[in-house]
Amino acid sequence: MKAVQFSEYGGPDVLRVVDAVEPHAGPGQVRIAVRAAGVNPSDGLKIRAGRWRDRPIPLPSGVGVEGAGIVDEVGAGVIDVAIGDAVFGYGINTMAQYAVLTHWARKPDCLPFDAAAGFPVIVETATRILAQVGIKPGETLLVNGAAGGVGSATIQLARYHGITVIGTASAPKHDYLRGLGAIPTTYGPGLVERVGKLAPTGVNAALDLAGSGVIPTLIALVGDPSRVLSIADFTAPQYGAQGSFAAQKNPERVLAEAGRLYSAGAFRVALEKTFPLTQAAEAYTLSAAGHVTGKIVITLP
Ligand SMILES: NC(=O)c1ccc[n+]([C@@H]2O[C@H](COP(=O)([O-])OP(=O)(O)OC[C@H]3O[C@@H](n4cnc5c(N)ncnc54)[C@H](OP(=O)(O)O)[C@@H]3O)[C@@H](O)[C@H]2O)c1
Repeated sequence: MKAVQFSEYGGPDVLRVVDAVEPHAGPGQVRIAVRAAGVNPSDGLKIRAGRWRDRPIPLPSGVGVEGAGIVDEVGAGVIDVAIGDAVFGYGINTMAQYAVLTHWARKPDCLPFDAAAGFPVIVETATRILAQVGIKPGETLLVNGAAGGVGSATIQLARYHGITVIGTASAPKHDYLRGLGAIPTTYGPGLVERVGKLAPTGVNAALDLAGSGVIPTLIALVGDPSRVLSIADFTAPQYGAQGSFAAQKNPERVLAEAGRLYSAGAFRVALEKTFPLTQAAEAYTLSAAGHVTGKIVITLP
C-alpha cells in the first residue's frame, strides 16, 4: 500500500509517499480503507523532534493519528462494527491507504469522510478541556486561539451547552468566529482591556489553545488561576493554572456525540484545505505556519 513516512527527522520536506507493508487489526481494533486523515500540529512536532514526550520515534515511521474510512478488517472482540461500515476515529499511521483504528464511532451518512477525519482530536480535546476547566451553562469562557481546529470545536460545544464564548483570532477570522457563535476579539497587547469591554462582569474561565505566552494575562482576566487551562503551554502549572496534555482513555462516546451533533446541524468544522496523499508535505507545511482555520485534511480516492 501507499503510505506517508519519514526516514529522517526534520521539517515537512522529509515526508515521502512510499510502498509500505499493510497493517492488520489486532484484538479490539479495526482496519479501515482510509478515505481521509486529519493533519495535527503535533504530528509535525514529532517529525521534527524525533520524539514524543519521553518516547523516541523510530525510523522509518508513519504519520497521522486520526482518520475516516470503510472497515475492511475486524479484530477479535470487536462487536459494534462490521466489514463495510463507515467509521471515523483515532488510529495509527492514518496517512496511508489502510490504517488500524484503536477508538472509533460510526460515521453518519450525512457526514463527509473528509470532515469526519478531522473530528477525533479536536472533539476529544474540546470535550476534555471544557470539563476540566469546570465551565458551566450561563458562564462566560475566553478561548485564546479560537479559530483553529480545537478552537472551532471548543466554541461550538461550549455554545451548545449554553456558555457564552469570547474567542481570540486575527481580524480576518472574526466573521468565522461569529459564525460559530463566539464573540471575537484580537489577541496581543490590550487583551485585558478588550475583553473587559466585551464582558463587563468578567470571564469565569479561560482556555489557552495557542501556547502564545498569555497565561498571566488570562489569570489577570479570570482572577482564579485554577480556572485557566492550557493545552499548548507547558509552563501553565507554574502559574497555578491547569495543563491538559493527554487524551482521555475512551473517547468513543464523545466521537459518537460529535456525529450526532453534526447530523442535527449543531456542529461543523471548516476545512481550510484538503490535499491528496502525495501532497502530505505541503499539508504539514501549511499546518506548521500556525494560522489554520478549522482543519487540514488529507484525502484518498
Ligand atoms: N494538549 C492536548 O491535548 C492537545 C490536543 C490538541 C492540540 N494541542 C495543541 O494545541 C494547539 C492548537 O491545536 P489546533 O489543532 O487547534 O491548531 P491549529 O488548528 O493549527 O490552530 C491554529 C490557530 O492558532 C491561532 N493562532 C496563531 N498564533 C496565535 C496567537 N499568538 N494567539 C492566539 N491564536 C493564535 C491561529 O489564528 P490566526 O490565524 O488568527 O492567528 C490559528 O487559527 C497546538 O499547539 C496543538 O499541538 C494540544
